[in-house]
Amino acid sequence: MQGTGQLKNDSGNKLKVVMIDEEGLEEKLYESLKKHELPDYFLYTGTGGARNWLNLDESRTFPVARKLKALLEGNLVSIVKFIPTGMNLASIGVGNGEKERIILNGLIKKNEEEAKNESEEEAFGSGRKRQIYYYPIDINSRMVDIALGKVQDLPVEKKGIVGFIEEMPFLKKHWQLPVLFCILGNTFCNYEPDFILKLVGENLESGDLFMFDAHIFPTLEGSDEAKSVRNKVLTTYSSRENALFNMYPLLHYGMAPEDFEFELLLSHVESGTGPLYRTHKTLQILNDTEIRVGPGTVKFKEGDVIKMGFTYKYTFEQISTFLNKGGFEILRKFLSEDRTNVIILARKQL
Ligand SMILES: C[S@@+](CC[C@H](N)C(=O)[O-])C[C@H]1O[C@@H](n2cnc3c(N)ncnc32)[C@H](O)[C@@H]1O
Repeated sequence: MQGTGQLKNDSGNKLKVVMIDEEGLEEKLYESLKKHELPDYFLYTGTGGARNWLNLDESRTFPVARKLKALLEGNLVSIVKFIPTGMNLASIGVGNGEKERIILNGLIKKNEEEAKNESEEEAFGSGRKRQIYYYPIDINSRMVDIALGKVQDLPVEKKGIVGFIEEMPFLKKHWQLPVLFCILGNTFCNYEPDFILKLVGENLESGDLFMFDAHIFPTLEGSDEAKSVRNKVLTTYSSRENALFNMYPLLHYGMAPEDFEFELLLSHVESGTGPLYRTHKTLQILNDTEIRVGPGTVKFKEGDVIKMGFTYKYTFEQISTFLNKGGFEILRKFLSEDRTNVIILARKQL
């Protein structure tokens, strides 16, 4: 487990709860690298991590999260229709919080319209607006600040949380129920489906909703369409910008660029839903070298391989099977015209 689970208030900022000891992260990085592992969350830590993600998200060659934002904007009215008035918003891996601002604007508008209708129905009614609570959550404290800043002008109660998704049982202690719990920006696909669905399922209450988005395959292998998406995925994930994003932690700690390279493969893995595409990321060490990280020095030999995180590329039908098996019911799906992006609104099966 990566988070500390301990709670401390960020001094001088009453809007934020910090559950991660940022200094401890360096020690964790040292321990991981000794095992030749670099879990993806290290790509997002520190000032460099926040800046790198924000730059990558803007780069022409890596449009994954941006396309999902366009899908959200295009479907906002229908999405909001399915979210009952009075729901709060907890969004994990919030990044710059742009998508959350879009959702909150929709929820606020709905809230105001319903209050107006109620006051027109009751001759003396006040048409009380329900207070919305917003919880932007991220492992990177700077992202939480940016996300909070993005909604400064909106009439919602805000509390940022710096914490790991894996610590969801602790995170949820800070929420007012019911929540619309979001994992946006294709982050759902960075976890084993059984793991993430169990975590979310165990920590949501029956009145809560779960919304996530994903970049997906339109069909399984075979069709020209699938081949073309496969090639696009390879081009996107092996782009120079994404390679640099993945190499940053080692470069930051002083490894020379010529001593290692980023390798990305896209392979089939077996799953209960048939063959599934999954990226396979590694850093290949080209020369004997060493770096100093936090408490110690990590040595690498030519030929060593550092294992990194992955992204699953599901078809919609595969996600739907996993959700069903994991005890969720899809309330509504919003698929892009080419079926390569989807937003799913779900709840726990009753
Ligand atoms: C791919 S970005 C998506 C950002 C944003 N949701 C979007 O749609 O643009 C992933 C985000 O999750 C955060 N993150 C990564 N690992 C995390 C973890 N284990 N727990 C919480 N947040 C995490 C990163 O700092 C980053 O902001």
